[in-house]
Amino acid sequence: MPILNVLTYPAEDLRRISEPVKEFDARLDQLASNLVETVLQFRGCVGIAAPQTGHATRLIVIDASRYRKPVPNRGLLVLANPEILASTGSAVSREGCLSLPDYTANVARATAVTVRGVDRRGEQIELTSEGFEAVVLQHEIDHLDGVLFIDRVSSLKRDVFRRKTGKPGKKGA
Ligand code: NI
Repeated sequence: MPILNVLTYPAEDLRRISEPVKEFDARLDQLASNLVETVLQFRGCVGIAAPQTGHATRLIVIDASRYRKPVPNRGLLVLANPEILASTGSAVSREGCLSLPDYTANVARATAVTVRGVDRRGEQIELTSEGFEAVVLQHEIDHLDGVLFIDRVSSLKRDVFRRKTGKPGKKGA
């Protein structure tokens, strides 16, 4: 199965609002499989959203079991048209993104979310996640609305870090 090319910031396609999935057909299934393959290609990668690969489609793949630390998780999840129905709590944690490979940032997110979506066969799913997996869900759902983690930091100077040095400061911010 093909591995998809991942767009990096500031690619304009990362800023588009993605379209809802309407047809749960072979094409969608293939895109979902390709997204899964693409996640597996990157060590420690825990999620991807279709628009990161140039497909403006509301489809995400997450797998919090691939995180370097063991965290509560449901393994591989493929969700079309995911919506956050409820969220509680707030905590800051360090996030990265395949589309911003040189940076990480401290981002405040809800600590638990209830998400409704549709699996690749068209069956509705509703789930509640906490902690790391909840953060990943929020991060990937943001991509469907053209939102990147750098949009969520309170200070580009204080909260964004270059991966190599770990020092604050974002080029071209
Ligand atoms: Ni991302």
